Amino acid sequence: MSTPKDFISLADWSTDDLTRLLELAMEQKRTLKKEGRLPASHAGKVLGCLFHKPSLRTRISFEVAIRQLGGSSLYITDKEIGLGSREAPQDVARVLERYLDGVMIRTFAHENATVLGRNATTIPVINGLTDLLHPCQLMADLQTILEHKGRLDDLRVVYIGDGNNMANSWLNAAGRFPFDLVISNPGGFEPDTAVLENARRINPGLKYEAIADPVKAIEGADVVYTDTWTSMGQEEEAKERRDVFAAYQVNNELLAKTGKKDTILMHCLPAHRGEEVTDEVLDGPQSVVFDEAENRMHAQRAILFELM
Ligand code: CP
Ligand code: NVA
Repeated sequence: MSTPKDFISLADWSTDDLTRLLELAMEQKRTLKKEGRLPASHAGKVLGCLFHKPSLRTRISFEVAIRQLGGSSLYITDKEIGLGSREAPQDVARVLERYLDGVMIRTFAHENATVLGRNATTIPVINGLTDLLHPCQLMADLQTILEHKGRLDDLRVVYIGDGNNMANSWLNAAGRFPFDLVISNPGGFEPDTAVLENARRINPGLKYEAIADPVKAIEGADVVYTDTWTSMGQEEEAKERRDVFAAYQVNNELLAKTGKKDTILMHCLPAHRGEEVTDEVLDGPQSVVFDEAENRMHAQRAILFELM
């Protein structure tokens, strides 16, 4: 398996290549902390960041990461481009590659990212979140687990909540790394079946269990992960979702059911405090959510370094 041109799904990347990216992210993080700067290895390179949805972490961490490598970035919204409405996505891709050295896209339909990737043949396309996947977040999460637990094997990762782009990305990660994954959702909100089947295909030894009851699911967890019940684009369903997911709130009572003292609590953010997670848990001693947020910058810088 050769290293792919794009970073659209963890499933496209081999375990060795992903491990190399994680090591690079951690090595550059150490250098940055010690020396305050990194070599300008990407001077003159321009990353286009195309957003169809809002962002705090993704926008700022990508923009800072490319600057840390000596490059620069452009923030582009769909108001200008009209991907698929003003202009066909394949034409947009073929124009962008004439100007830019890389594109990061945050969009709704996953296909928008794959079509860009297929048609921009000379530059990398990086997935900054689609309705289906959020692979850059997962790289930051894996880095955070390595920093706090020192390993990715012999760990039980329990995802509690909506079977959304984060849950799907965890399935992809479990296809590549040897931790046990448990996903706990109410019926009808399970992760994507095709993503699960693909994870099983690439890793016939996939250690995955679906346990609907969050109290049973969380037992023995080394890592508890949760995410919003209402993802971007689902705002109209927010009220209905609050009712469906009420029993899946990660609060002190549920977290205590891990039976472990050193379980870490993760969340990609933004959190809806008082919904999927309580203040006491998010601000508590087990929470590593701001390390995850910082690691977005380090993990993505490694991806930019490798691909641009
Ligand atoms: N976690 C994450 O992607 O955050 P933003 O939506 O703020 O970019
Ligand atoms: N599932 C969330 C993740 C936000 C980073 C969403 O898609 O809105």
